[in-house]
Amino acid sequence: MAVRIGFIGCGGIANHHMRTMASNPYAEMVAFSDPDVERARAAAKQYGGKAYSSYRTMISKGGIDAVFMCVPPFAHTDQEKLVAEAGLAFFTEKPIGLSLKRVAENAELFAKKGIITAVGYNWRYSDGAAVMKKTLDGKKLAVVSGYWVGGTPGVMWWRQMKKSGGQVVEQTTHIFDMCRYIAGEIDVVFASGISGLTSQDELPLYDVHDASVVQLRYRSGAVGNITSSCIVSQGVGTQVRAYARNLVVVVGEGRCQVSVPGEEHIYKDARNPTAHEQEAFLCAVAKKKGPPILSDYADAMKTLRVTLAANKSMETGKPVRLA
Ligand SMILES: NC(=O)c1ccc[n+]([C@@H]2O[C@H](COP(=O)([O-])OP(=O)(O)OC[C@H]3O[C@@H](n4cnc5c(N)ncnc54)[C@H](O)[C@@H]3O)[C@@H](O)[C@H]2O)c1
Repeated sequence: MAVRIGFIGCGGIANHHMRTMASNPYAEMVAFSDPDVERARAAAKQYGGKAYSSYRTMISKGGIDAVFMCVPPFAHTDQEKLVAEAGLAFFTEKPIGLSLKRVAENAELFAKKGIITAVGYNWRYSDGAAVMKKTLDGKKLAVVSGYWVGGTPGVMWWRQMKKSGGQVVEQTTHIFDMCRYIAGEIDVVFASGISGLTSQDELPLYDVHDASVVQLRYRSGAVGNITSSCIVSQGVGTQVRAYARNLVVVVGEGRCQVSVPGEEHIYKDARNPTAHEQEAFLCAVAKKKGPPILSDYADAMKTLRVTLAANKSMETGKPVRLA
């Protein structure tokens, strides 16, 4: 039987999930909630099911097995608690919130209730990430770095620090997460940011950093840095790069490049990472054989911790040590 899905949030990424899910035989989209109820209605019209203006009503009505949560970072409030109390499986988009304290409480509740969770760190599900992970397995890494450099997304909440957490927490989190996935835990974070290049006349309410560089030390001893900028509308791109002795592996822009002295191999992504992450989650919920979930809630909490530490370091000018 297909897993009955209810959406919390029916905006940009939710619609991407819906389009991808429409061809997944393990999923049936049965409920859609959004405070902008027209969005929920449009989704219900397209995919069938019921529309709600409130996720509380959607959850209390029952008839769903799993929730896909696709709301802005500041809008994570009590949804996780309600989902856990209802015993539903839970897929959420990154970042999983802005309050580490609340996220830690949620993680504990999910563990206590045995809830299946997955987080939309879709980079992990790309073919390139699989090649990178396998190629670097067991290697002593020296440097694991990355960047996300592009324009400012159009949604109003994104440009406000208190609503999105800023670019590092909201967007470059994909790069931080990939670095953790490849190189393991990070124990020191030291960050600097620059602000003031984008005026509020140009973009009302804009108060996020224009750019930042975050220096990382991994527990393994490897080092790295991650650059973010949201002031380059023509885009520079996104990338994760690792160096071991006589080995360079680069992932991003739909491919993985592996080079050793005198040789270079390029692997292009074939599968859709969103379809792959959905398949992993849906198979786990349906108890069917499928690909493993590569990012669950408890793991995503560790990425959030690193990105919030970067914000703290930018604020204080001091390095942050993570236990
Ligand atoms: N994995 C990815 O590659 C990826 C890509 C894009 C966005 N995202 C993440 O998905 C989340 C949503 O992003 P989006 O681009 O879909 O945003 P969006 O603004 O397009 O949509 C968010 C939706 O949530 C609804 N919503 C629900 N509760 C809300 C509340 N309390 N306040 C305000 N709005 C509320 C809004 O009405 C809106 O329809 C973000 O956390 C973002 O980082 C992930």
